[in-house]
Amino acid sequence: MINAKIIGVGGYIPEKVYDNAYMESIVDTSDEWIIRRTGIKERHISADNEYTTDMATIASKRAIENAGLTAEDIDLIILATVTPDYFTPACACVVQANLGAVNAAAFDFNAACSGFVTGLTIAQKFIQTGTYKNIVVVCADVLSKATDYKDRATCVLFGDAAGAAVVSASEETGIIATDIGADGASGMAITSLAYRDDEEEVEKRISHKKDTLWMAGQAVMKFAVKTMAEASEKVLKEAGLTWDDIALVVPHQANYRIVESAIKRMGITDDKVFLNLEKYGNTSASCIPVALSEAVEAGRIKKGDKIILVGFGGGLTWGAALIEW
Ligand code: UT7
Repeated sequence: MINAKIIGVGGYIPEKVYDNAYMESIVDTSDEWIIRRTGIKERHISADNEYTTDMATIASKRAIENAGLTAEDIDLIILATVTPDYFTPACACVVQANLGAVNAAAFDFNAACSGFVTGLTIAQKFIQTGTYKNIVVVCADVLSKATDYKDRATCVLFGDAAGAAVVSASEETGIIATDIGADGASGMAITSLAYRDDEEEVEKRISHKKDTLWMAGQAVMKFAVKTMAEASEKVLKEAGLTWDDIALVVPHQANYRIVESAIKRMGITDDKVFLNLEKYGNTSASCIPVALSEAVEAGRIKKGDKIILVGFGGGLTWGAALIEW
């Protein structure tokens, strides 16, 4: 079997910031509540005329440069988003054109916040079978454009970002094991409506705006803690490794309390976990690749380190990947 390895990463964070003081000015909340219940201090917000494909293009470009490749070397671009510019063309096709990645096939997929690990899993299969050599997995969302800024239970959580990785055929060990899964029966715990006419859903939203996100926070929290721990254990077991072999865990950056509870279940200490959620909040699928880029840049990940990437989100879905850097 051919190895699939991450050989480059890149992220993009928009400039505008909504800090907790700003959130206090628009909904009945407090800096103290937000920090104690989530750990978030700031979130970055896309400009009015800045969309998913704009951010995804920059993150992909950075990842390709970081990999030492050119756009022409890319065989496939897969893009995870829940806030596409268009239903068609796919955001991945827009990014392909923006990059000049003329040799790349391109498609979008939706696994919500589990998008990056799902994308790595897809990329690994195309590489292992010898179909493609260089694949861009890019995650981007403008959650701020889908946020109900009247709903204090969700608006304090979300921000915008893009994160990308180049996954390539390699002689070195890379992606060792992955586990992705879904619990569709619990799917209505996080909703964002497309064409379906669903009055009950619209009623749930404080603003009654159809195109905003709604979430049953407590239910998602319980699901997240359980699935993050179980999926991580599963990839460890598949690889025949233990937590002692793992240098760092890069989790979905949704809420500090979710991560704390999950690592307690895993039986690891927080020095093995990379967190940047206080700066960006929950940016959906891009949380993990953005955190991965920052962890590499900060020297928290060295060549040969074994790392677990683990996320959960809408669907409901989850995913974990054990990789060697
Ligand atoms: O990537 C997508 C996955 N989504 C997530 O990861 C979200 C998972 N869920 C969570 O992170 C948490 O459930 C929240 C942060 C959303 C909420 O925290 P919680 O500890 O579950 O709070 P709660 O929903 O049980 O609400 C407790 C109280 C309520 O007031 P009452 O009913 O007890 O009077 C809420 O109305 O906190 C209130 N509350 C707030 N108060 C101040 C909810 N949001 C806020 C707020 N500021 N922003």
